[in-house]
Amino acid sequence: MIVAVYPGSFDPVTYGHLDIIQRGANVFDKVIVAVLENPSKSPLFTVQERMQLLRKVTEEIANVEVDSFSGLLVDYMRLKSARSIIKGLRAVSDFEYELQMASMNRKLNDEVETFFMMTNNKYSFLSSSIVKEVAKYGGAINELVPYEVGAALQKKYA
Ligand code: PNS
Repeated sequence: MIVAVYPGSFDPVTYGHLDIIQRGANVFDKVIVAVLENPSKSPLFTVQERMQLLRKVTEEIANVEVDSFSGLLVDYMRLKSARSIIKGLRAVSDFEYELQMASMNRKLNDEVETFFMMTNNKYSFLSSSIVKEVAKYGGAINELVPYEVGAALQKKYA
């Protein structure tokens, strides 16, 4: 059974993430969506809220699990006996940072492999930050995030 971990901040999950989760779940036996608990960032949603939204929007994908982690991704992966990392690439601008992270993760544990998936063109401009910015000023986000996420954003910014 090949288990892949899809790590990220997911503050909040967008259709771009969901596209990667769905496609990853088509390829791997199990996908663990792992929310990073990062004390140095000040997120809009708590880790619990982010996990709750992720669980809601992935409830129909049977081989997806939602979890959280802190510290190094490779340590979390050892804990889960997983060796595959899934990452989405939106544009060339993502490449440099992702290359750096993938190289560092392999240096830390050479049994870990990172698999990149090209984000669907429809979502290549999409990020959690941009969604938050649009939502904050009352712009339409219904094509960017699932309904539950939109509702949660509206509540935060009400
Ligand atoms: O959604 P994000 O914020 O782009 O995700 C970044 C994430 C969570 C994948 C990355 O910050 C991460 O893996 N953090 C864990 C710390 C770690 O393992 N760092 C060493 C590898 S660079």
